Amino acid sequence: MEGNIRPAKNDSQDLLSLIDFLLIKFPSNDSQIQEKIKELDLEFIREDLPQLLESMNLGVERIRNISKSIRTFARQDREYKTVFNIHEGIDSTLLILKHRTKANQQRPAIDLVRNYGDIPQVECFPGQLNQVFMNILANAIDAFDEANEGKTYAEIETNPNRIQINTSIIEENQVQIQIEDNGGGMKPETKDRIFEYGFTTKDVGKGTGLGMAIAHQIITEKHGGTITCDSTLGKGTIFTIALPI
Ligand SMILES: Nc1ncnc2c1ncn2[C@@H]1O[C@H](COP(=O)(O)OP(=O)(O)OP(=O)(O)O)[C@@H](O)[C@H]1O
Ligand SMILES: [Mg+2]
Repeated sequence: MEGNIRPAKNDSQDLLSLIDFLLIKFPSNDSQIQEKIKELDLEFIREDLPQLLESMNLGVERIRNISKSIRTFARQDREYKTVFNIHEGIDSTLLILKHRTKANQQRPAIDLVRNYGDIPQVECFPGQLNQVFMNILANAIDAFDEANEGKTYAEIETNPNRIQINTSIIEENQVQIQIEDNGGGMKPETKDRIFEYGFTTKDVGKGTGLGMAIAHQIITEKHGGTITCDSTLGKGTIFTIALPI
């Protein structure tokens, strides 16, 4: 599609310069021509058309990114593991969650801080890892929704909701992924049960209590890694995942 917009831009420039050429070559006081030029607001078209085409170009670029992310996110896992770029997995998940992280009437956009280290590709089931990122990030956003209750837009703006993601190599043969939020955190008794099947503090219909249990199973059983959770009530939560390279 983008391939069509550039030529369209050139064609429209050509047409505009043809009009200029004709107006110079055949200067006319013909009132009908002058009126038509006014009626169509030629000057406006001259300025607006390239901008319009440029914004179409940007739109196409955005659609391209989203569709690429959906394809990355929804990778069908085969029987065997494949090498995967973890950062692409996290980015595609964040893009899919964009409707929840962008600004709304209650709060500004969630601040997303990516501290991506120089890590190698990981042998894994990509679709499953993306599921883990999705479950953790969705919980962080849920935690913000709760922590923001009763706060004004301005209050949240001075102390913004922030998700920070760090990736690094540890002990030479493992990659570490940390996902941290400054939401409301958890009570110790919640934290202790976080990986239990069916454990939730959310209302019926809002949470099933499966997100972290599934994440735990995917990381430990399917990938031979570890996942731990640290949380302080009123301060925030941090998940640490380690995966063998
Ligand atoms: N980042 C977080 N901040 C605060 N509490 C959290 C966070 N992540 C998880 N929790 C707590 O852990 C509980 C279990 O999380 P889990 O994702 O397994 O289930 P859920 O979010 O309640 O439901 P769902 O199955 O829809 O994910 C949550 O109900 C919540 O109390
Ligand atoms: Mg959840």
